[in-house]
Amino acid sequence: MSRTLVLTAHRSPDDSRINKALIAALRPLPNVTVHELMRTYPDYQIDVAREQELLQTHDAIVMLFPFYWYSSPAILSEWQDAVLTYGFAYGSEGNKLHGKPLQLVVTTGGNAQAYSPEGYNRYPVADLLRPFNAMANLTGMDYLPPHLVQGVFDMSDERLAQEVAGVVQLVQRL
Ligand SMILES: Cc1cc2nc3c(=O)[nH]c(=O)nc-3n(C[C@H](O)[C@H](O)[C@H](O)COP(=O)(O)O)c2cc1C
Repeated sequence: MSRTLVLTAHRSPDDSRINKALIAALRPLPNVTVHELMRTYPDYQIDVAREQELLQTHDAIVMLFPFYWYSSPAILSEWQDAVLTYGFAYGSEGNKLHGKPLQLVVTTGGNAQAYSPEGYNRYPVADLLRPFNAMANLTGMDYLPPHLVQGVFDMSDERLAQEVAGVVQLVQRL
């Protein structure tokens, strides 16, 4: 049975509505490990050996986060800087992530229209996430199309429940 690691990143997890709901639904799934980076490392002192061990003991990786300034929360950026080291994630012998699917699940305040060429954010979210695509490429991971949960500010409880169900299904299929 394939094991999936869900890395979650949020600046203030207690204040979250959307990511909190997604995390609560993913946590009980069999063969899924939900790993909340900000709760584990509120001081940003990431345990690199532990993180690399987690990556190696799972087959698929999910990164779940709210879009902040067209990118990820800082804790995920710090995680990448600390954990994806030469000789582990890239370089001639850095093959530990090869072949693992990487699925991004990103929640955005803006709706899909806002991320069209005419919209106020101008660029599609998939374009803004290209550094993750490039990271997956360099580390030999299989970058899957990002899954977006958009327009979250005025999202009804009913629609949130539908979005949560969609993400659960996506993660179960990895
Ligand atoms: C610091 C910060 C930066 C944000 N930047 C963006 C952004 O660039 N694009 C966007 O669509 N939403 C942006 N938002 C809105 C968040 O994406 C939104 O609040 C989040 O997805 C809601 O999830 P949560 O309830 O789990 O916090 C930003 C929010 C914060 C706090």
